[in-house]
Parts: sequence; C-alpha cells; structure tokens
Amino acid sequence: MNGIPEKERRLAGILSVKGITGLSIYCYSEVESTMDTAFLLPISMVSDRTVILADRQTQGRGRFDRTWYDGEGSIALSVILTDYNFRIPYSMVASYAVYKTFLEYTGMVHLKWINDVLWENGKKVSGVLAEERAGRTVIGIGVNINTLHFPPELNATSYRLESGKMLDLEEFTGNLLSNLFALLDDIHSNGIEPVLTQWENASKMKGRNAVVVLDDGTKCEGFVKGLDKKTGALILNVDGGTREVYGGSIFFE
Ligand code: BTN
Repeated sequence: MNGIPEKERRLAGILSVKGITGLSIYCYSEVESTMDTAFLLPISMVSDRTVILADRQTQGRGRFDRTWYDGEGSIALSVILTDYNFRIPYSMVASYAVYKTFLEYTGMVHLKWINDVLWENGKKVSGVLAEERAGRTVIGIGVNINTLHFPPELNATSYRLESGKMLDLEEFTGNLLSNLFALLDDIHSNGIEPVLTQWENASKMKGRNAVVVLDDGTKCEGFVKGLDKKTGALILNVDGGTREVYGGSIFFE
C-alpha cells in the first residue's frame, strides 16, 4: 500500500494556495476502504486532519454497513480527527462542506437529512459517514464527480452525468477540504449551531410533511419543524406533539 507522491504534492499545492499547509496527505491507487486505512494508519503517521485518498476502493462502505459504490472518476477520502468532540455531528458538517463545494460549480444540489447530497432530480451525488474509535474520529466522504456508470439498482448520479461537464478531481478535493476545515475552525470558535442553521436552510425541509424510517425499521410520520441546533436531530410535529429523531431515512410526501 504505497502513496502516490505526485498526487499528494498536487493536492498539497492546491491547499497551500488556500493557506492550508503542513497537512499529512496520503493518496493510494487502491485500498479496501479509506475508513479502514485511516483507522489502521500508525499513530506516528497521524496528526489532526490527516487525509487519506484513494483512486479506487474494493470494499467502500456506507452507513448501516451498506456497500458504497465508487466508480472511476469519483472521490473517496477519509479525514482523521484526533482533536474532536464526540457531541459534534461530524457527518452533517461534512455533508454541508460537500454541498458548499458543489455550489462553487452548480446550484443543482441540495441536502437530504441526515447526510446525503442529492442532485435536483433526487439522485445521490455524495454520501458521508463518521466513525469514532480508539481516539480517532474518521469522516468518510464519497463524491460522484466524473463517474459515468452506476449499478442500475442505485439511485445515484454524478456531476458529469447531469451537467455533461467534467471536473478536476484534485481541485474539487482541495476546495472540499478547505471548506471542511473552515467549518471545523468555525465550530471551534462559535459552536455547532451556526453550521446546523445553514444546514437546515440548505435542506429546504422545514414545513414539509415527511415519513422517517427509523434505524430500527419503524416509521414516524409528521411535519418537519427543523433541526435541533445542538445535535442535528430532526424535530417532527407528530399528532400535535414534538418528536426528536436521531437517525433514519427521510421521505417527503
Ligand atoms: C453513505 O451514504 O452511506 C455513506 C457513504 C460513504 C462513502 C465514503 S467513500 C470514502 C469513505 N470510505 C468508505 O469506505 N466509505 C466512505
């Protein structure tokens, strides 16, 4: 498992123009999952915000142990945080960073609770997950940029399939990391509330009727009041009462 030095140098160059220097970046041509690589990386190679990138994952994984399909032309990366707060919903922070980065290229994306970025037609262009163990929080981000083919059973798409245009993957990655790190800095100074307020606005889900399939498979139906600005929980009005939902898949009526 060897890094690709020219990719690491190019990304470091793009980031240094944005004032981000001294970052540890490891780019691999193929790994099983950047999440596993991030957790297995020896402590001597890890500092806060270390980045792991892969051209290809053979066992990319999504939420609920689902397989994550990352075809050629997609971005797969993990960011290791050693300085973190277990109360922060990092996957929501990262999905907002992906959304913000897409806005630099297109206005056709929106956020879907809990951490998906969708194209306007409802197809998924990015998925995010965050895992914590052994003193590390690892944020995993997959973004479909230039990918041309997806398994038909997936409701997935890419920037290229929708816009007809290709993007430079390293440039998008540099912009994404810069946005993510700016959000993390903002959270250090001002707390999570401002980020979750922006997240809520970008999702346009307030005031809509929704069904949430909870992680245990049961359903909860109600009117979306918004997000809890400390935890990212979804606040639903159900039968005149208020219910907070911490995880699940949301569908709008
Ligand atoms: C989801 O939508 O279920 C989350 C998908 C997360 C995919 C990314 S790709 C980079 C990182 N490595 C993985 O194995 N998964 C995450």
